[in-house]
Amino acid sequence: MRVFLLLVAFELSWAQYNPNTKPGRTSIVHLFEWRWADIALECERYLAPNGFGGVQISPPNENLVVTNPWRPWWERYQPISYKLCSRSGNENEFKDMVTRCNNVGVYIYVDAVVNHMCGAAAGSGTHSTCGSYFNSETHDFPAVPYSGWDFNDWKCKTGSGEIENYGDPYQVRDCRLVSLLDLALEKDYVRSKVAEYMNHLIDIGVAGFRIDASKHMWPGDMKAFLDKLKNLRTTWFAEGTRPFIFQEVIDLGGEPIKASDYYGNGRVTEFKYGAKLGTVIRKWSGEKMAYLKNWGEGWGFMPSDKAVVFVDNHDNQRGHGAGGSAILTFWDSRQYKMAVGFMLAHPYGFTRVMSSFRWPRYFENGKDINDWVGPPSNGDGSTKSVTINPDTTCGNDWVCEHRWRQIRNMVIFRNVVDGQPFTNWWDNNSNQVAFGRGNKGFIVFNNDDWNMSETLQTGLPAGTYCDVISGQKEGNGCSGIKIQVNGDGTAYFQISNSAEDPFVAIHVDAKL
Ligand SMILES: *[C@@H]1O[C@H](CO)[C@@H](O)[C@H](O)[C@H]1NC(C)=O
Ligand SMILES: *[C@@H]1O[C@H](CO)[C@@H](O)[C@H](O)[C@H]1NC(C)=O
Repeated sequence: MRVFLLLVAFELSWAQYNPNTKPGRTSIVHLFEWRWADIALECERYLAPNGFGGVQISPPNENLVVTNPWRPWWERYQPISYKLCSRSGNENEFKDMVTRCNNVGVYIYVDAVVNHMCGAAAGSGTHSTCGSYFNSETHDFPAVPYSGWDFNDWKCKTGSGEIENYGDPYQVRDCRLVSLLDLALEKDYVRSKVAEYMNHLIDIGVAGFRIDASKHMWPGDMKAFLDKLKNLRTTWFAEGTRPFIFQEVIDLGGEPIKASDYYGNGRVTEFKYGAKLGTVIRKWSGEKMAYLKNWGEGWGFMPSDKAVVFVDNHDNQRGHGAGGSAILTFWDSRQYKMAVGFMLAHPYGFTRVMSSFRWPRYFENGKDINDWVGPPSNGDGSTKSVTINPDTTCGNDWVCEHRWRQIRNMVIFRNVVDGQPFTNWWDNNSNQVAFGRGNKGFIVFNNDDWNMSETLQTGLPAGTYCDVISGQKEGNGCSGIKIQVNGDGTAYFQISNSAEDPFVAIHVDAKL
């Protein structure tokens, strides 16, 4: 009996850390600002066939409409109600997306904005995505409903009512983040409304949540609403499956609030990951790829089984959030592909791939003054659909990094090497490095300013392999470089430092 109880406790405590992706699918992609109708199509035509495990979607609930004169992406982080009604689509379109994606084994992860409502200066009226009335001065959100009693103003001790000092955890949790009206999550009523919203999404069939601005909520308050969540729908998930939870906590060190404060609730976004990897690939601050030998916990990161990792996200790809100019994005495509390739080959953390829209980036005094620009949109403010070009890239200014051959093939690489140990590390004490994943895959990088020519131990069975970076296996042929692995597991790699992509990756599913 005692043993049985311990086992149950273990399973329950482990549950919300499990991404719930189908076995053999190891990454999710953030389709930032995509419409539900486009995501449904993408699940069926691209994500399922290429082994993606899920999609992080933009916040689906009703939000403030900001016109200054064009609509910023960040308006979606200013909730007005929990109606499923946004620029991405209405509730019916949302349900259709979840059903169609789930049916092809690609699960949906909702960006849940529950720390706050809209900004204090939003005014009053019905300028919201579903036309619900609100009044930010009186703190009235009748479509939830929330009223003045449901906000933290009485609890915040700063003169401005704003977070003024990140060294004070009380301010960070109880005051307004950039003027956003801070919900009183110590109240059971507020916790119940948040849980009701999230349970509605679970009823529709979502697999988990990214919880926005978690750093600005008390971990205990979060636990209280998370404990109210239902198990996932048995139409698609095993009986007793808990929603996957990952919390947005920016912890680059040096503040009293730590990512570890949140481990009890679920996984946490590891922001050190992209900031450090960008610095290494850019070779800034004396960093070099040889130092990646002990990448992961060895770099002061959180435990791998608590981490959600990414090279960039929708905030720091435009200078918001954390990491500054070290963050690599699609704008630096050559280095970006190397960074994402490294991330997907390395066993540390649960991986999220970014998929962006292009915006008219324009720097003044080192700051992108167009960092607010929203998704590609029509004259009436509606979001443009994602068109697909004959060469499989996306149109209408959708970048679709997840469709770049190098990135998509590394998502597949990660699936193939899933569960295999980190093996056969090699480096030249500079920026040429290589490592394997057991006897399933091997990857080699040349980020030095000179050519590389080395025979390395791959750990792979003998044979001819197709490099999945320069091309891929097509039928019995290979559209990229061929790599010959000898009987003793060694192979010769030659990588020009001026190659379009100065890295090579091979795995057992791309053996000819
Ligand atoms: C890096 O590797 C190359 C050969 O691939 C070698 O010529 C070079 O000296 C190495 N650099 C260092 C610092 O060891
Ligand atoms: C590096 O390799 C490329 C491609 O093989 C070649 O064109 C180039 O001349 C080489 N550079 C040096 C310095 O050997």
